[in-house]
Amino acid sequence: MEKNDEKVLVKVFPDGPYEVKGNFSLIGKDGKEIPHDGTVHLCRCGASKNKPFCDGAHRKIGFKDGAE
Ligand code: FES
Repeated sequence: MEKNDEKVLVKVFPDGPYEVKGNFSLIGKDGKEIPHDGTVHLCRCGASKNKPFCDGAHRKIGFKDGAE
């Protein structure tokens, strides 16, 4: 297995998606790798029509994550 020392950063956007940045593989529900350019925004609200990616729908539905 290839050793990868680069950190992958995961940032939680308030009332929004997870931003994942770095050198990582994103595997879809079909088991296939989803190509990306090193930064993705993953839906956390469940309303995206382009899952696993955020499409901005969290704003339309007024998603609140409950965090303080
Ligand atoms: S978090 Fe943005 S559409 Fe779900």
